[in-house]
Amino acid sequence: MSILVTGAAGFIGSNFVLDWFEHNNESVISLDKLTYAGNLENLQSLQKDPRHIFIKGDIGDQALVSSILKEHQPRAVINFAAESHVDRSILGPQDFIETNIVGTYNLLESIRAYWVDLDEKSKENFRLVHISTDEVYGSLEINEPAFTETHAYEPNSPYSASKAASDHLVRAWHHTFGLPVITTNCSNNYGPYHFPEKLIPLCILNALAGEPLPIYGDGQQIRDWLYVKDHCAAIRAVLEKGRLGETYNVGGWNEMANLDVVKLLCIILDELKPRSDGLKYSDQIIYVKDRPGHDRRYAIDATKISKELGWKPKETFETGIRKTLQWYLDHQDWVNHVQSGEYKNWLTKQYQ
Ligand code: NAD
Ligand code: TYD
Repeated sequence: MSILVTGAAGFIGSNFVLDWFEHNNESVISLDKLTYAGNLENLQSLQKDPRHIFIKGDIGDQALVSSILKEHQPRAVINFAAESHVDRSILGPQDFIETNIVGTYNLLESIRAYWVDLDEKSKENFRLVHISTDEVYGSLEINEPAFTETHAYEPNSPYSASKAASDHLVRAWHHTFGLPVITTNCSNNYGPYHFPEKLIPLCILNALAGEPLPIYGDGQQIRDWLYVKDHCAAIRAVLEKGRLGETYNVGGWNEMANLDVVKLLCIILDELKPRSDGLKYSDQIIYVKDRPGHDRRYAIDATKISKELGWKPKETFETGIRKTLQWYLDHQDWVNHVQSGEYKNWLTKQYQ
């Protein structure tokens, strides 16, 4: 038995594959296009592991995906592959349309062709778990209740619109063709292997490098932060026990304003690795131009997954962020490699 994991060299995908082998021995076939966000170093510890195969390729390549499915006969596909950064989607939406919408369509068609030819038992047991985001629901006012699974889709950025489109395709392939799919909509993740274009890893690395910590606008935008390993556990629960055709919201019950996230991160860093000049890391905070169309608040109501599948996050933000900071302090090599040419170009383009 095996599973196919797409986007497996990215932040959450690589955490998922590593976490998978901590819990069972079933083989994993990892497929990833290795865009700027894909990093094979994340999976380096599995290089000689016979349970793991890595294939470089595009979810939109039907010939490739069909041949992988035919050869390895996985019992499930977990689809993490996507363009995932809102700011990049604002500067250039095309890749988001190509991977998140057209790529998902092609993936669905490859999986459908494979699935219809399976024997009855394998067909019944097969699952596609599609990994999505809370951003498809749009933005909440401060006093509105958190997003439930029945909240209307109101995406506001090219990223969230492309993810919303992919969720709709997945839903339609279930409704029309009977494909056994489950979708998860998760809040903001943080943890090891997070590419430093996103708020938390960017601020950790800038803090340590003595660079500014850029807060967009007034820093009062609220996100619901979840430690990545808790997300991985939720996906495993959904794969094993989730109901077909359903969507499950996944979140940390942990709403925080961006400025508070960065201030807390600074306080813990002051403790773990004090600045040599005696100043505080929070002295590096600066306010920069806001993101266009910046969503004010996301919040996830994760009651359904908790009641139906018994999933709850294990980490609080305080415990998870400590682990994350320590991981970045302990993995200077990973950091050095990630901060290479393309990443530097991005910083210049975005923060000049
Ligand atoms: P990421 O950008 O770190 O990783 C995405 C991975 O997909 C990369 O390894 C990239 O190379 C790969 N990829 C991109 N296009 C591909 C293609 N056409 N074919 C094959 N591989 C391709 O993203 P992430 O943060 O790990 O997010 C993974 C998934 O989880 C995404 O679908 C994202 O929308 C969703 N999600 C992310 C968060 C978060 O906070 N990061 C929260 C909720 C949901
Ligand atoms: P990000 O990590 O890009 O995730 P998302 O946009 O998917 O929520 O951003 C998290 C929040 O932090 C978001 O409100 C934008 C804000 N932010 C900053 O204030 N400064 C930054 O440099 C970045 C990258 C993000």
